[in-house]
This record gives sequence, structure tokens and C-alpha cells, in this order.
Amino acid sequence: MKKIVFSGIQPSGTIHLGNYLGALRNWTQMQDDYECIFSVVDLHSITVYQDPKALRRKIIDTAKIILALGIDPKKSTLFVQSDVPAHTQLYWILNTITKVPELELMTQYKDKASKNRSTMAGLLNYPVLMAADVLLYDTDIVPVGEDQRQHLEITRELARRFNDLYGKTFKTPEPLITKFGSKIMALDNPLQKMSKSAPSPYNYIALTDSPEVITDKIKKSVTDSETVIKYDPARKPGVSNLLTILSLVTNRDLKAVEESYFGENYGKLKIDTAQAVISFLSDFQKKFYSLSDDKVLSILKSGSKKINKIAQEKINEVYRKVGLK
Ligand code: TYM
Repeated sequence: MKKIVFSGIQPSGTIHLGNYLGALRNWTQMQDDYECIFSVVDLHSITVYQDPKALRRKIIDTAKIILALGIDPKKSTLFVQSDVPAHTQLYWILNTITKVPELELMTQYKDKASKNRSTMAGLLNYPVLMAADVLLYDTDIVPVGEDQRQHLEITRELARRFNDLYGKTFKTPEPLITKFGSKIMALDNPLQKMSKSAPSPYNYIALTDSPEVITDKIKKSVTDSETVIKYDPARKPGVSNLLTILSLVTNRDLKAVEESYFGENYGKLKIDTAQAVISFLSDFQKKFYSLSDDKVLSILKSGSKKINKIAQEKINEVYRKVGLK
């Protein structure tokens, strides 16, 4: 039997190259060898206010992006989280065994909460819904970027805790976080990760950015005052980030890419990286703009129909174990 893979992406902000290189790239590569389930996690995205009309559009566009990047609905299941009620049902059950202090320790929560005087409960409980997403499908592997590592640790802990309390019910999933690409840095500040919700568009390369915009953003990206092209994330975060991007989009070994720039200047590295990103994204963009909303909606509908059956069976088992049924 094939191992089960689950992962999700929020339909919020701008989906960028970091999302692809850190997570979605692995999704597409796992389709042949695993039973893959991918979700547009819309319920997660409303932990930060979303304009309702824009959100509906983003849900469809996010699914479109996933499909255009190469997720094949014949091989993988793609669905929208809110179309499968078992996610919120399991979320509640898991909330009853989650300690508030362990949620307060989450870095993403602390970051967001520190910017707001009164924080919504949804933001605190965000990782519990994520645990429900993963545990519902007896997931073996969760391909994600580095920023989700902590959330997967709590997912594993909740699986163990539930199993200890009510008997073996959940598998303990393993994260898949690749060595390179799992933390693509912001172009305008290479000490921070590339982020969907960044206020400046110079932070990220959106997957739908035009060639001119990509060139402009990479040309203006922050490097350092030296002249040596070397992979050294601690000392040279900007240059190392460009080398990582270039090696991943061209599928070349990082060391080989680094060596090929011996004696070259930053301008050349930037132009080559921009060219490589543009040519990599051109196929994707053609597919993205050719997919109709109707086609995407019908793929999502059959995805949720298929997955609802599996999720419902699991939630029935959980309800029985807890004594609700
Ligand atoms: P989200 O929507 O923020 O990001 C989607 C995926 O992209 C990865 N990522 C990055 N990888 C490399 N460099 C970056 N700068 C970068 N920024 C983001 C993320 O790690 C993620 O894998 N909580 C999740 C969504 C989620 C989920 C799940 C994931 C909900 N339920 C269950 C896995 C399993 C999130 O907010 O991802």
C-alpha cells in the first residue's frame, strides 16, 4: 500500500516562489509514489480578516495555481478544507486535549499576537485545526517549509496524547522539510523569510509576476557590500538566497551553481537568476491563465466528494472512541 501524503496552503496573500520551492515543488514530485491529498485551507486563512469577495476568488485561484504547478487530479486529491466538515469536527475534539500554554509557545502565534493588542482565539487555535487536517487521513508524510515544523511537532504530540487516552486511533506523521528551499528568504530583507502577507511586493516573487516585475525585484534584491559569490547563509544571506533559488529553478546542484560564479559579479548572478525564474514560471503562467474557473470548481467538487467519505469514517471512529457514538 502507498504511504499517505497530506499538505495544505492558505488562500491568503500572494502565493510566491518560496511557497513553491519550500512545499509545492515536493508535492508535485511525490504524486507518483504516494497517495497524495492536498487542500486549499480556507478556514485557516480567516484567522486573519479576509475580504469575503476577494477570499472566494483567492480560493479558486489558489487551486488553479496548484493545478498549474503540476498537481494532476488523476493522481492526487485536491479539495477545499471548508467543503469537508470533519476537519472542524476533529478540530473540536483535539481542542479538548490541547493545553493553552503549548499553543502560546508557537512562534507564528507569538509573532502575530505581538502585533495585536487583543488576539483572536482562532489564531491561537490555528495549529489544532492543522493537526486535524493531517490526522484525519492517517497521514504518513507532510511536505512543508521550515516555518511549519513546530506545528507538526504539536500535531505529533496530539496524536500520541489522543492515542494514550482513547486507544490507538491516529498515525504519528513525519514532516518532510528539504535541506535547501525550505526557507526562501525575502528579497528586500534576506534575514526574514519570503512572506505572503509582506507589506512590500519587493519582499517576494509572486508566481504570477510578469518578466519585467521579476527582473526589477531581483535586480533590487538586497545582497551585501562584498564582491564574492559564495553560499554562506550566515554571512551572506542575500547572495546565498539567490544561489538557492537559481539552483532549485534550474534543477542544478547548489555547489555546481556556486562554483560556476567564481570570479563573477553580483549583477550577473541577479540577471541569470531573474532569467531562470522567468523561464521556469513561463510554462506555469501559460497553464494558470488557460484553466477555467469551471474546470477548477469541478475538480474541487470531485476531490471533496471522494475525501468526505474517508474523513467521515475517521470522525465516526473518533466519536466512538470518545464515547459520543
Ligand atoms: P502557508 O499557506 O503559509 O504556506 C504554504 C507552504 O509554503 C511554505 N512556505 C515556505 N517555504 C519556503 N520558504 C518560504 N519563505 C515559505 N513560506 C511559506 C509553508 O511552510 C507551507 O508548507 N499552516 C500552513 C497550511 C496548512 C497545512 C495544514 C500544511 C494548514 N493545514 C496541514 C500542512 C498540513 C500554512 O500556513 O502554510
